[in-house]
Amino acid sequence: MRLARSFPDHTISREALEARYEKAIKGDDFGERYYIIEEKSSRQPIGWASLDIHRWTRRATGADIGLAIGEKDRWKQGYGTEVVRLLLDEAFEQLNLHRLTLWTFAENEASLALAKKMGFKEEGRTRESFFFDNQYHDNVILGLLRDEYDAWVSPLRRPGRSALKRGRS
Ligand SMILES: CC(C)(COP(=O)(O)OP(=O)(O)OC[C@H]1O[C@@H](n2cnc3c(N)ncnc32)[C@H](O)[C@@H]1OP(=O)(O)O)[C@@H](O)C(=O)NCCC(=O)NCCS
Repeated sequence: MRLARSFPDHTISREALEARYEKAIKGDDFGERYYIIEEKSSRQPIGWASLDIHRWTRRATGADIGLAIGEKDRWKQGYGTEVVRLLLDEAFEQLNLHRLTLWTFAENEASLALAKKMGFKEEGRTRESFFFDNQYHDNVILGLLRDEYDAWVSPLRRPGRSALKRGRS
């Protein structure tokens, strides 16, 4: 992954990464929800997704979402759309959250296109927040409110939710 390669300061061992996922699967922390994206046809893991509920607020009303399709030959096949749709479903239908935030570096056209397709609106930028490829990059913050989801995304929902599995398989 580009960002992982660019942040050696954040590199952790495979054991530590597995321990983190094991903890998440056990549900020790209500706010950290990690998923493996599994391709239905091949049953292969092709990426991850996360829902990170904000815990610094008095009431848990918002969360950050994140995802990555790790296998590049699976990009632009609709997986990102399906995964975000499932995350929205969990956040708004199951957890009754009020808003979701997605942030990414400004040049990430794929992520911005996906977020805007799913109804997220650009809310702001934090300048020069990321450093990789030997330069600083702006961070774009996008948000989606529950009302907007109800009006815009909800009618687009389709049946079939098995592509997103909780934890590792
Ligand atoms: C961002 C990412 C998850 C998108 O996943 P994906 O499976 O390719 O997305 P989809 O196929 O569902 O495409 C969603 C929309 O984005 C558009 N899109 C995808 N890649 C694009 C690109 N490189 N440039 C412009 N638009 C793009 C698609 O055309 C589609 O819009 P459409 O349905 O109107 O045609 C994937 O590129 C990825 O994992 N990137 C690396 C990790 C990352 O950047 N994660 C996001 C950080 S928050």
